[in-house]
Amino acid sequence: MHTFTIVPQRSAPTAAPSDFREDILKGLTGTPKRLDSKYFYDAAGDRLFQEIMQVPEYYLTGCEMDILSNQTRDIIRAIRAHTGEFDLVELGAGDATKTRFLLRDLLDEGVDFTYFPVDISTNVIRSLEEYLPMELPALRYKGLNGEYFDMLQAAGALSRKHKVVLLMGANIGNFHPGEALQFCQAIRKQLQPGDLLLIGFDLKKDPHVILDAYNDRQGVTKAFNLNLLTRINRELSATFDLDDFEHFPTYDPLTGSCKSYLFSRRAHRVYIDGVPIDFQENEPVYMEISQKYSLQEADRMALSAGFYPITSFQDSRRWFADCLWGVE
Ligand SMILES: C[S@@+](CC[C@H](N)C(=O)[O-])C[C@H]1O[C@@H](n2cnc3c(N)ncnc32)[C@H](O)[C@@H]1O
Repeated sequence: MHTFTIVPQRSAPTAAPSDFREDILKGLTGTPKRLDSKYFYDAAGDRLFQEIMQVPEYYLTGCEMDILSNQTRDIIRAIRAHTGEFDLVELGAGDATKTRFLLRDLLDEGVDFTYFPVDISTNVIRSLEEYLPMELPALRYKGLNGEYFDMLQAAGALSRKHKVVLLMGANIGNFHPGEALQFCQAIRKQLQPGDLLLIGFDLKKDPHVILDAYNDRQGVTKAFNLNLLTRINRELSATFDLDDFEHFPTYDPLTGSCKSYLFSRRAHRVYIDGVPIDFQENEPVYMEISQKYSLQEADRMALSAGFYPITSFQDSRRWFADCLWGVE
């Protein structure tokens, strides 16, 4: 199966340089140290995330591919039953490989819509603008490069129709549950009655399966995490030596939280744009959460965020769910 290939281009800044510097320094001078996962996606990070999606242990992409390749007609039927004329806004579109099924079937059914892929990565939006017309010549689209909510607002200004917002893959999982709720509430605030949200949840399952997905044998996830240090070296003249850090994922089946850390192998000092940052031996840097949910927890989140759960679509192993939520 063909996937859109993100073409590595010159290193693409994904946020204003001053935000990047401020966020990185704030994260690494706080306790515990942390780095914001939204900064993973420079050109190399985009490419590494594409590689992660291909490693055998990373089941998430296959699950959602299963849903979108086999149930798109059902998804479209459910969408059309709950809204009028709409445009599609995808938050954190990435390479849109899975969304392509939905786009194609919508076009086949003669639905009149515009697709607004939103992504903080300039590289992602450029690649989509290159590939979408080749893959789907009939598609009307407008790539929106920036932060989720700024771009959701921008899409609102460009479209007079109802919005069907897509938040696929692992995106909502990259927030702590409390933040995820706030995130959904913030989406809800920008929507109107009759709008819809199709949101992906990675479901709680065998803890070994989950942990392996973030600790693949080829070390791609490790390289993806370490790449942020390379990016900081390049963009903020920092002095990280990648060999001083180790990748360490954990999964807690009670809370459903899968967390990734880098930890410092030795006590040492790093400079970031001239600012000294001291690391203790074995000191962790918190990198990313990949939160897992039950279907009941997903439904509760819908209600708490001001949506109503309509239905959900699951893969054949029931490891992942794309949930359709409505706005009353
Ligand atoms: C884990 S990838 C998932 C991509 C796609 N949704 C999928 O399921 O394959 C997350 C995407 O969200 C984008 N992203 C992360 N934080 C963002 C933010 N704050 N605003 C806009 N896009 C963001 C990243 O650049 C990346 O392309």
